[in-house]
Amino acid sequence: MSEDIVIQASDLTKFYGKVAAVDHIKFEVKKGEIFGFLGPNGAGKTTTIRMLTGITKPSFGNVRIMEFDIEKQTLKAKQIMGIVPEVSNPYIDLSAWSNMMFQGELYGLPNDKSKEIAAELLENFELYERRKDLVKFFSKGMKQRLILCMALLSQPQILFLDEPTSGLDVQSATIIREKLRQINKEGVTIFLTTHNMEEANLLCDRIAIINKGKIAAVDTPEKLKLMTERLQKVVVAFSQPINPESLNSLPNVDKIEKLGDKIQLHTTAPGKVIFDIVDYAREKHLDMVSLNVVVPTLEDVFIKLTEDKEKSGHGA
Ligand SMILES: Nc1ncnc2c1ncn2[C@@H]1O[C@H](COP(=O)(O)OP(=O)(O)O)[C@@H](O)[C@H]1O
Ligand SMILES: [Mg+2]
Repeated sequence: MSEDIVIQASDLTKFYGKVAAVDHIKFEVKKGEIFGFLGPNGAGKTTTIRMLTGITKPSFGNVRIMEFDIEKQTLKAKQIMGIVPEVSNPYIDLSAWSNMMFQGELYGLPNDKSKEIAAELLENFELYERRKDLVKFFSKGMKQRLILCMALLSQPQILFLDEPTSGLDVQSATIIREKLRQINKEGVTIFLTTHNMEEANLLCDRIAIINKGKIAAVDTPEKLKLMTERLQKVVVAFSQPINPESLNSLPNVDKIEKLGDKIQLHTTAPGKVIFDIVDYAREKHLDMVSLNVVVPTLEDVFIKLTEDKEKSGHGA
């Protein structure tokens, strides 16, 4: 395996009964990347991350973490990774500090070293002042920051996170993302899963889009963003019926469709189109019943990706 590849999944598959939760997926993560696994609920993200980290045994295929085979050299591989699972519970009747010390013991770190790194991490994650407080008095965001500190205590080279900001308020999620960028800058490769397109966009160098156990595409957030922009729509309804073709002359409109009493305009510039529609309505003395911008969902993106794949002849 080339030196700059730190995670390699080949033909990775997991069956639960007859259902393939993860279906022959293949990808590589390069050293220093933030690599995102983006997909809706049930896509196979958690199953994948559990196979990558040696918690779940694949039905088929294999995983290499740097030079180690996750199944044959599990311990060695685990020594270079930190894991933030989907559900992680620090001991709420212990202080943040005790949780860190306990984690250090689990990793077999010497006590002095544990203390030194724990202090540094808690300081960095703005928890040091609160280190003696019981975790049960922590907010959700503080708890998640502590979980990150615990995962970083062994100074891993690769950090795996399963939906690290899911269920957090906007501010806590922003702090977590900032910290992840910072950790990454300091040299840690990051693999994370998310169902949030915006998060993938904000954080990742590359994104694998996964649906129903299969990878639909691996691309940069910029390309994904371009595609999502092309899927934006403005939907308008007037109080009187109009001929949709009369809107054909509007600039920035790529396609017009009539849906019942509504007219749907495909555009990459919804902000501009809205102004033009308002002008149009004013000019024609039309009343608008509704005017909305429809932002594509992850589902729309998948459908588009699948269509594109079929068109380019690679099959779905
Ligand atoms: N332990 C299990 N037993 C049976 N089915 C499972 C198990 N874990 C996950 N699945 C199924 O595998 C699919 C993928 O689940 P999961 O990996 O948790 O998806 P995600 O994390 O993307 O939401 C789902 O259909 C889920 O119901
Ligand atoms: Mg999951």
